[in-house]
Amino acid sequence: MKRIFIVTLLIVVSLPTYAQRNKSLALTPPMGWNSWNTFGTNINEKLIKEVADAMVSSGMKAAGYKYIIIDDGWEAHHRDAHQDLVADPKKFPHGIKALADYIHSLGLKFGIYNCAGTMTCARYPGGRGHEYEDALTYAQWGVDYLKYDWCYTKGINPEEAYLTMSKALRVTHRPIVFSLCDWGFDKPWVWGKSVGNLWRVSNDIGKGWYIKPNPHKWTPLGISQIIDIDAPLRQYAGPGHWNDPDMLEVGNGLPVNEDRAHFSMWAMLAAPLIAGNDLRHMSKETVSVLTNKGVIAVDQDSLGIQGLRYQVNDSLETWVKPLEHGNWAVCFLNRASAPKKLKFNWKDHTITDTLSHRILDANKSKYTLRNLWTNKSEGTTSRTLKAEIPSHDVLMLYLKKK
Ligand code: GLA
Repeated sequence: MKRIFIVTLLIVVSLPTYAQRNKSLALTPPMGWNSWNTFGTNINEKLIKEVADAMVSSGMKAAGYKYIIIDDGWEAHHRDAHQDLVADPKKFPHGIKALADYIHSLGLKFGIYNCAGTMTCARYPGGRGHEYEDALTYAQWGVDYLKYDWCYTKGINPEEAYLTMSKALRVTHRPIVFSLCDWGFDKPWVWGKSVGNLWRVSNDIGKGWYIKPNPHKWTPLGISQIIDIDAPLRQYAGPGHWNDPDMLEVGNGLPVNEDRAHFSMWAMLAAPLIAGNDLRHMSKETVSVLTNKGVIAVDQDSLGIQGLRYQVNDSLETWVKPLEHGNWAVCFLNRASAPKKLKFNWKDHTITDTLSHRILDANKSKYTLRNLWTNKSEGTTSRTLKAEIPSHDVLMLYLKKK
C-alpha cells in the first residue's frame, strides 16, 4: 500500500525531460559489455561475475569500458506476489542486488534488460503496466543502465511507452542510462533525445559482414548493412543521445580485418561500444582490437559528432569525423571483396561538414597523420597518401592540426 502511495506521488510530480534531469549521463557513447551476443539466455551469477573480473584483468576497464549489462533471461518466469520483478533463483541465487554490489565493488557499473511489452523477447515478464514499480526495483538494486526492448507490444505506441519508462526512471532520482531498443521501427532518432540516451537504429546485428536476408526467416543484419542504416542519421546523435547500431561482434569469430573494420566504423559512427564476446577467453588480437586507445578516443571524443561518409569510390569509402581541438579522424573503408589501392591527395579535397560547420582543408591547415592501427606516422597532409587496403579492412588515421 505504502509503495503504491509513493509511486502515485511520484507520477504526479511535474517532470523535466530525461536529458535535462540527467545532464551528465552518457556524454560520450556508453562503453561496456552485454551478455546477449554470446550467451543468449544462458546467463547466471557466476558467469557474469567472471566476465566482470575479466573486464578488469584484460585491461578493458582501463580502456574505458564500464557497464556490465545482463540481457534477456535473468528473470524468473513470473513476478512475485506483490507483482515485483524477481530474478531466476537458480541462475542468480543471491539476487540481482548482490550481483550489482559485486560489479560496483570492481569500480564498474551494472546494467539490466527488460521490455516495453507484456513479455520480453524470450517470454519473461515484460514491463508494460509496471513501469513505476519496476523503476523503483531497479534503483533499489543499484542498476545504472536499462536496455528496454520492443517485443509483445501489439497496439502500444513506442514513443508513449518509452516515455512512460523514462519518467519512471527519472523519479527514482538514480542516474540510469536508458537504452531504447525498438529496432528503429518507429524512428526513435526523431523523438528519442528527450526520452533516453541511446536508441537502436536497426534490427539485431549478426556475425557477418553482409548477411543475406531470408524472406522466410528472421535474419540478423551484417556489419556493412547496419553502417548503411546509421550513416544518414548523424544529425540526431550528440552528447547524451546516441544512435545505437547494436552491440559489437568483435571476438565472435569474424576474421581480424572485419573485427578491425567493425570496431573502427563503430568509433567513426560515435556508437556505443558494448562488447558482446566472452571476455574470459579472448585472443590477444581480440583484446588489441577492443582496447585500441586511439580508436576508442575517436569514439569518445567530447564533441560527440557522428562521422560523415564523405566519398564513395567503387566500394572504397572515405569517412571523416570532426574531433576536439580542430583535429579529425579519417577512415578509409574497403567494402570490396578484393584489396583496393588508395591514392588520396589531401589538397584536392575541401571537406565541409555542414552539420558541425567544420572544414578539413589541407590547403589552409597542415595536419600530421597517425595510423591508429599500426600507431605509426603516415606523414602529413602535404603529401599524397598512397596505400593498399585489404578487403573488408580500413586505414584509419588521426589528423592532428599543426
Ligand atoms: C531483441 C534485441 C536483442 C536482445 C534480444 C533478447 O532481439 O534486439 O538485442 O536483447 O531481444 O531477447
